[in-house]
Amino acid sequence: MHHPIRVIAVCGTRPDAIKMAPVVQALRQHGAFHVRLIATGQHREMLDQVLRLFGLTPDADLNIMTAHQTLTEITLRALEGLDRLLRESPADVVLAQGDTTTTFTAALAAFYHKIPFGHVEAGLRTYDKYQPFPEEMNRRLTAPIAEFHFAPTETARQNLLRENIPAERIWVTGNTGIDAVLWVAHQPYDAEDPALRHALDHPGRLILLTTHRRENWGEPMAHIARAARILLERFDDALLLLPLHRNPRVRETLTTVLGDHPRALLTEPLDYAPFVHAMRRADLILTDSGGVQEEAPAFGKPILVLRETTERPEGVAAGAAKLVGAETGRIVAEATRLLTDPDAYAQMARAVNPYGDGHAAERIRDVLLQEISNSITI
Ligand code: UD1
Ligand code: UDP
Repeated sequence: MHHPIRVIAVCGTRPDAIKMAPVVQALRQHGAFHVRLIATGQHREMLDQVLRLFGLTPDADLNIMTAHQTLTEITLRALEGLDRLLRESPADVVLAQGDTTTTFTAALAAFYHKIPFGHVEAGLRTYDKYQPFPEEMNRRLTAPIAEFHFAPTETARQNLLRENIPAERIWVTGNTGIDAVLWVAHQPYDAEDPALRHALDHPGRLILLTTHRRENWGEPMAHIARAARILLERFDDALLLLPLHRNPRVRETLTTVLGDHPRALLTEPLDYAPFVHAMRRADLILTDSGGVQEEAPAFGKPILVLRETTERPEGVAAGAAKLVGAETGRIVAEATRLLTDPDAYAQMARAVNPYGDGHAAERIRDVLLQEISNSITI
């Protein structure tokens, strides 16, 4: 007689929740699995926002977040808590996504308990240790631990093969973030959100900006904010929508440079559904986010990536995204070109979706079902 496949799914940050939610849902819809959702609470408000939207309640929450937390603090607190949980709840597989410190510690904790680890969104690389920091190393350190590598794209699969991950342990599934964004885009949107209302009603052009990466903290982020301010001065019909990440370091810089501008709408992080609708309304998106780089091309929105390198080259190759770094002059020049040259704009504003087709979670479920179920008997 078979017992259900016992899955522990771990999330901690906003993107963890967005990308794990479709997986948890797909597994729970299938009788073969028993899924426990564990939140490290590396993020608090931003994690809870997403879990609420997907109707998910963690079975355990380590609640580790502190203001101004360091990487070491996150690692120690998450590892300790996950270790305790894995000691108490036997599991056949532990799953986590991407490149956050929550994910790396989930892989490490699973390894210490000799539980197979499944890496959702495996194989993204820049091959620059410090960009993005610490995410590139979180991914690279997770790979040799993982038993299941769910690569979103063929490029990611190739990266893993180069690192001698056996071909038969890699499955190209698409990115579960695309499952999530397509699901959300079809939900009725919350037009009551005041920031979204304001953005949707704005008669002129809408520029959407998000920035939070550690390597942009401080001066580079001030350069980004100055670029946004120059753009507002240059284009007097434009509204800048800037949902602020909750990190106090990020808020301080952005608020100092842009807080007093009448056409800069600085808001709390938008709930995922209003944010998706803001992306669809936007004329131009400036971001250093990983997830937004995957989502914006799906809506045919030109996206300027505020980073020097990207582990998501597919959007750039498709012509939908451009790497512009965090230097004021370059950002202003590239954005100005898009806002003044209809041909340049049209060339980038093509809906492409190299990151997935919306069925990644089902593929992950099928792989786990096939690979694990036959080996479990009691
Ligand atoms: C983390 C991830 C990053 C991911 C990002 C998504 C790591 C090391 N970094 O970076 O890969 O791109 O999440 O947003 O895993 N805070 C709150 N409330 C929240 C969330 C954050 O107050 O809901 C504040 C806290 O003061 C916290 C700080 O933000 O100390 C930074 O959070 P942290 O998770 O350390 O880093 P992120 O930049 O959010
Ligand atoms: N997002 C959101 N509200 C916001 C900004 C972003 O819901 O105000 C979503 C966005 O659609 C994407 C995810 O958050 O799915 C990206 O998270 P973030 O940029 O924090 O992390 P990264 O993807 O860079 O790791």
